[in-house]
Amino acid sequence: MKTLVATVLACASLLTFNQAAAKPIEIKFSHVVAENTPKGQMALKFKELAEAALPGQIDVKVYPNSQLFTDSTVLQAMQLGDVELAAPALSKFQKYTDQLQLFDLPFLFKDIEAVDRFQQGPEGQKLLKSMESKLLVGLGYLHNGMKQLTDNSPIRVPADISGKKYRIMTSDVLQAQFEAVQAIPLKKPFSEVFTLLQTKAIDGQENTWSNTYSKKFFEVQKYATETNHGVLDYMVVTSAEFWYGLPDDVRTKLKTAMDEAIAHGNRIALKKGAEDRQKIIDSGKTEILTITEAERQQWVNAMKPVWKMFADEIGPDLIGAALEANNP
Ligand code: SIN
Repeated sequence: MKTLVATVLACASLLTFNQAAAKPIEIKFSHVVAENTPKGQMALKFKELAEAALPGQIDVKVYPNSQLFTDSTVLQAMQLGDVELAAPALSKFQKYTDQLQLFDLPFLFKDIEAVDRFQQGPEGQKLLKSMESKLLVGLGYLHNGMKQLTDNSPIRVPADISGKKYRIMTSDVLQAQFEAVQAIPLKKPFSEVFTLLQTKAIDGQENTWSNTYSKKFFEVQKYATETNHGVLDYMVVTSAEFWYGLPDDVRTKLKTAMDEAIAHGNRIALKKGAEDRQKIIDSGKTEILTITEAERQQWVNAMKPVWKMFADEIGPDLIGAALEANNP
């Protein structure tokens, strides 16, 4: 793969850097969330660190809130050279690799620490390279948190959600997950979720506390059920053409800045999840429901058959490695 990437890019890099010699290299970082989220803060930290490490040589422009591209257009734009950095949710890479569907399997990881152990282990690190044949390079994982359900009626057991319309990210695993509990999943961009909820075009959605708070979903949903049924994390990606076309010293400094920015974003993710959950409670607009172990088991029993449906596409070994991360 390295050879293919290197060959495709050799000419492009020379051209790019001869042209760029006189002016800073522009790096556009497009994302869909608000600035006061783990991803929003990570992107701003990357700008700060990268520009400090390469003064006058690079110009990082961060575009939050789907201002530049939505998650359904950003990866294609990246392949076309229209944007250099993005960090879509892991559920949004299905067109580019089957393997990342792993992260959508319901009740696979017991908590975000287990997700982190898997991502930093050998299998997780290999997945960063799983899209190089599509000329997309993974630079690292960023946490947001575990997902919860929100709705206008109290949801405690799978029967409560039957027949309800739920917005999901563009993932067949998530579709199967909601179909397994007889709900009606609708794949819609993040930028449309608030309006869909407000106009009652959908009944509910699944998301993390920080997304539910920062995008004000809690203002138009009466209940949030703390199921922790899945993970919403990100992969920071760049285009192979851009990345391998950079001079070695610039790429090394950018990677260091990215690693530090991701560590910063991960620290925020842990804190923000708890803080935004509390802010939702304090708003008095959404009641947070916790479920009993017996109720949780009903969700697990209903949703777990989804694993089998996707095991071949994802790879049983990968699922095994993810499960091992639950028991360090
Ligand atoms: C994101 O956190 O980037 C968006 C998640 C979603 O589409 O629900």
